[in-house]
Amino acid sequence: MIFIDAALRKETPYTPIWMMRQAGRYLSEYKETRAKAGSFLNLCQNVELAAEVTLQPIDILDVDAAILFSDILVVPYEMGLGLEFLAGEGPKFQNTIRSIEDLNQLREGASNRLDYVYDAISSIRSKLSKDKALIGFCGSPWTLATYMIEGEGSKTYTHSKKMLYANPKLLATLLEKITSELKAYLENQIKAGANAVMIFDSWASALEREAYLKFSWNYMKEIAYDLKKKFPHIPVILFPKGVGSYLDHLDGEFDVFGVDWGTPMELAKAKLGNRYVLQGNLEPARLYDYEAMEEGVDRIISVMGREAGHIFNLGHGMIPDLPRENAIALVQMVRQKTKR
Ligand code: CP3
Repeated sequence: MIFIDAALRKETPYTPIWMMRQAGRYLSEYKETRAKAGSFLNLCQNVELAAEVTLQPIDILDVDAAILFSDILVVPYEMGLGLEFLAGEGPKFQNTIRSIEDLNQLREGASNRLDYVYDAISSIRSKLSKDKALIGFCGSPWTLATYMIEGEGSKTYTHSKKMLYANPKLLATLLEKITSELKAYLENQIKAGANAVMIFDSWASALEREAYLKFSWNYMKEIAYDLKKKFPHIPVILFPKGVGSYLDHLDGEFDVFGVDWGTPMELAKAKLGNRYVLQGNLEPARLYDYEAMEEGVDRIISVMGREAGHIFNLGHGMIPDLPRENAIALVQMVRQKTKR
């Protein structure tokens, strides 16, 4: 698998590419399957349909890796929070965690109730061609905690930050609980057939540096360390969004660092490139325009070259109204321009 070789810094015939949120609303095929499922959560829980949407971008784009179709929020859902995805509004939890009493209400053993994810992975792996990798994933403890504390997406993280400053012990206890579920969750994903795993820390940039290292990065590192000890051959990818100015302080045992589009690739290469394979980081909105896309691709390739050490990706997820023609063209463009 070219993707796995690249993630382990082996030589490959070209730089592999996949795209965050490569399955989604910019594909009419996705919208059709989602309509069949009824709701987004039903889609995540329906093994057959989840496998179907996972494989759509492989057939349509010919990317080098599939990413499990699911959501980071199925873990807090199975911890007992009650989740709905409201059209146009995003995720909403019935319950929030704001006190020790709330915390004590959480259900233990969420990783044992996620068989629909593990079954989807086995099904996808059995249908996926042998040269394509399957990436499993989860959200970071900090990013999941913000959803659990706020009850929904947030711009200010009001309740999470109140907890951080007024009751850091409570936040740490919550983060530890989530971390222990995530270790088991990713371990089960690997046992079910995931060839690599990625941790999305989408709200990394909400924290100042020391708080970030203590309340987010440390827990990501702990999960990565645990997995690398148990599964040394399985690449672990960490993606903290928006922490370009903290790069000097990031360390740990993992394989691939996901670079967001706000972090210049040359900066990431200088700070982390000799320790980690870099994944990224085309600004997704460049896909609105073919020339802008090609200019972005050329710039990234001029920094990362054609040697081992790079996996091409967007610097964040696909946007629902991006033209699929450009996504298809991007894969061929990267492959052609990085051919060894
Ligand atoms: O990358 C992939 O193709 C795999 C699938 C995937 C989804 N969500 C599907 C999804 C992955 C890896 C995620 C991760 C995720 N989910 C993150 C971290 C990555 C990031 O983007 O930073 C976060 C923060 C979430 C939480 C979440 N899920 C939100 C805020 C929303 C609503 C926003 C929206 O786009 O509607 C979701 C829903 C969601 N997850 C959709 C998809 C395809 C859209 C649901 C729909 O079909 O309407």
